[in-house]
Amino acid sequence: MAKTGNGTAEEHSPSGLPIKQIPGNYGIPVLSPIYDRLHYYYFQGHMGYFKSHATKNNSTVVRLNMPPGIFISRNPHVIAVLDAKSFRVLFDPSKVEKKNTFTGTYVPPLSLYSGLRPMAYLDTTEQLHSSLKSFSFHLLASRKSQFIPTFHKAYSSLFDTVEAKIASGPVEFNGLNQSSAFDFTCNAFLGAVPSEVIGPSASNKAAIWLLLQLHPLASRLTKFIPWPIEDLLLHCVPLPPCLAHGGYKTLEEFFSKAGESLLEDAANKFGLSRDVALHNLIFMTSFNANAGFKIFMPILLKWLAHAGETLHGKLVQEIRSVVKSSNGKITLDALEKMELTKSVVWEALRLDPPVENQFGHARTDLIIESHDTAFRVKKGEMICGYQPLAMRDEKVFKNAEQFVADRFVGDQGKKLLEYVYWSNGPETVSPTVGNKQCPGKDMVILVGRLFVAHLFLRYDTFSAVHDGMLLGLEPRMVFKSVKKASEVLISDQ
Ligand code: HEM
Repeated sequence: MAKTGNGTAEEHSPSGLPIKQIPGNYGIPVLSPIYDRLHYYYFQGHMGYFKSHATKNNSTVVRLNMPPGIFISRNPHVIAVLDAKSFRVLFDPSKVEKKNTFTGTYVPPLSLYSGLRPMAYLDTTEQLHSSLKSFSFHLLASRKSQFIPTFHKAYSSLFDTVEAKIASGPVEFNGLNQSSAFDFTCNAFLGAVPSEVIGPSASNKAAIWLLLQLHPLASRLTKFIPWPIEDLLLHCVPLPPCLAHGGYKTLEEFFSKAGESLLEDAANKFGLSRDVALHNLIFMTSFNANAGFKIFMPILLKWLAHAGETLHGKLVQEIRSVVKSSNGKITLDALEKMELTKSVVWEALRLDPPVENQFGHARTDLIIESHDTAFRVKKGEMICGYQPLAMRDEKVFKNAEQFVADRFVGDQGKKLLEYVYWSNGPETVSPTVGNKQCPGKDMVILVGRLFVAHLFLRYDTFSAVHDGMLLGLEPRMVFKSVKKASEVLISDQ
């Protein structure tokens, strides 16, 4: 203990930082959580909301109400961690419990998953978590050779459609991507294309099921519903799960047939019952992977469009020269050689991580440290990280608010990967059965690189505009023009 200026004793953390009370408060019960919710969704936006609390309290660790708040949530009170250092407490399974924290302060009705709790809602101390995570590693490893060809099939078809439509006007990317992302993910994991087996409505069935889980986090469903009505509709009571039951049944049949051999592996190699394996396979494919790609692709497109022709030219040069030297094929080795392409993907994930928030309950009384201060947290309190601020920490990233395409190129650039957190862990760490890091981490990075490579093998440049957010969750991107490549390097993989 040291004495402060006014003579009172000041406590220090084991690493020597002064321990202070966490600033901020939860306000008036009932009223403040509603007031905060409206600011989060409608008046300030997610970034504005977290920034304003950090600024007002002059601290990157702060108490606040996390929307959707009362009625849907058990308890909206959280401790927000908003800098690159304090955020890392959420990666330590010995410090945080992540049971039922996947969607934050509420849990969707379990009838959406046939009454089971999918892996993403399980804590590392639950035995089933470890068996399911091992199953996810098996799935990803056994299907890895299919990722490049299935991506090529789904996204070549998307770009064919863009080209066919663009002569008659701007083309929205998101609707097309919804279908391609679902076709790609199912084909990559199961070897079957849902739009061919179920029909063109397949991805809508998955989208409705996703909406019934995520509506408390969504906003701006359509411009035709005024926000006060939308707030009542989306953020106050769970929408009836039965709205998704018919579509889910169809998905269940599809996964049951197409996933037969994976389900056998799940039973024989990992001791999982068919029911648990089936509903987790549906969740991993249709939620974790599909919803991730549904949001991630528009984000990548947004930053590529924003960077403009100069960056496009550099990417064209890098991608085409590497592909030429790989006999005209995009391979895993070829992608690994594309330094600028790799950096662009990490930079987009740094600025706009597709899953913005992570949550966990303190397992014991603990101390959280920001760069200059330490804070005591009580056992059971909920900690909430907001990645977009943690990864724009000026103490770690120079010009943190700017898209710097080559930020992660070279040895110095690679050192910064330690602070890229989109997967619920540093980019330099790998997912294991003992942590809650995304098992799809390597696949996501691969798919991001594939997307950029395909785009610039096909086009010399393109223009697209960012036209607001869809459901407050993904940027709406609209293609204005594409300039086809002067030389065609690959026709089929
Ligand atoms: C752009 C795409 C993706 C993003 C942004 C993403 C992000 C994340 C994040 C942030 C988490 C941690 C959530 C939490 O506990 O707070 C997570 C967990 C998880 N992700 Fe991903 N993910 C993506 C794609 C995938 C893919 C392709 C798979 C394929 C299997 C996958 C499977 C999972 C699973 C099973 C978990 C739960 C892990 C556990 O409980 O230990 N994700 N993901």
